[in-house]
Amino acid sequence: MEVQNSQGMQEKKLTPGLIAKYLDQYVVGQDDAKKVLSVAVYSHYRKLGKRRPDAVEVAKSNILLIGPTGTGKTLLCETLSRILRVPFVTANATSLAQTKYVNEEIEALLQRLLERAEGDITKAQHGIVFIDEVDKLKTTAGDQSGTSGERVQHALLKIMEGTAVRLSGTQTIIDTTNILFICAGAFVGLESITANNHAYGFISIDDSDNQKILDRLNSRVKPTDLFIFGLIPEFAGRLPIIANLQNLSKELLVKIMVEPRNSIYNQFREILKDEGVELEIEREVFRQIAELAFEYKVGARSLRGIFEEMLTPVLFQIPDRPEVDRVEIKSLFEEPLLI
Ligand SMILES: Nc1ncnc2c1ncn2[C@@H]1O[C@H](COP(=O)(O)OP(=O)(O)O)[C@@H](O)[C@H]1O
Ligand SMILES: [Mg+2]
Repeated sequence: MEVQNSQGMQEKKLTPGLIAKYLDQYVVGQDDAKKVLSVAVYSHYRKLGKRRPDAVEVAKSNILLIGPTGTGKTLLCETLSRILRVPFVTANATSLAQTKYVNEEIEALLQRLLERAEGDITKAQHGIVFIDEVDKLKTTAGDQSGTSGERVQHALLKIMEGTAVRLSGTQTIIDTTNILFICAGAFVGLESITANNHAYGFISIDDSDNQKILDRLNSRVKPTDLFIFGLIPEFAGRLPIIANLQNLSKELLVKIMVEPRNSIYNQFREILKDEGVELEIEREVFRQIAELAFEYKVGARSLRGIFEEMLTPVLFQIPDRPEVDRVEIKSLFEEPLLI
């Protein structure tokens, strides 16, 4: 694999395909979101290298990731941050909405960006800021008083539009014009807004090939949908690229437990290996866990809990049982075999 950690990566070699391949090692499925992120990050890099005086100014395109809880939004961005050579920081919109000092928090965020850039202001000014849970900033219908969420939207809007921020206690000024913003949120309820809005203004034609493309266009979330949801139009307007994450099927849930480099299965195999014990879990068990997790409707979030519960009796006994060198699990509903 050519992709390496942040230091080792050659800018020349970084293509959208390679970024997506790296994401594939940790994030299962979500190919659309991976593509959108890879292309956006790639273009962002390219701009950094381009310093020709006659170059056309390419405006950045901030990204909004929308998808149900536990489907990999945060994981995607955290994984992305590990391979990037541009400085990357994350903030959580919920905690921004809880503080009285939004502007101070935003300054602190930019300060962290500068630290990640090792003090190089130019580099910091081309960094990436990930803001999670922006759906929590929604304004509630009928509330005229300017909720804390709305205040945060205005504060974020300012840096997303591009402004000069002086870091407190210093002479340092960070211009945010070229910082790339990636926002994410579950946006519970947005689907029905989108569906309603498409009741009229729906484009349709006869040709079935083109119909596929049109279906995709018609299922797109529009800025007006976000506005109805509770984002102020200017804020929504600063997020021109929207990528949707899909609900995880049972098959994908099984894959998540088994396939990523740091999958839950691999992690627990490692823990038991440290005790000199080999862990073997049959495929059927993963299917049973996926079945349960699917019912909980929190994406992949519940997998770890179910997994740990299943293994707790094993983890309890093993340290006192030096004669055991294998653990086999054939069903979620049967005692594990200690051999
Ligand atoms: N597509 C996925 N591939 C691999 N693991 C996933 C995926 N989606 C979720 N997970 C796992 O589920 C947990 C919650 O995922 P997270 O990215 O925080 O969800 P959210 O979309 O709510 O931000 C994480 O521990 C992550 O490992
Ligand atoms: Mg999340």
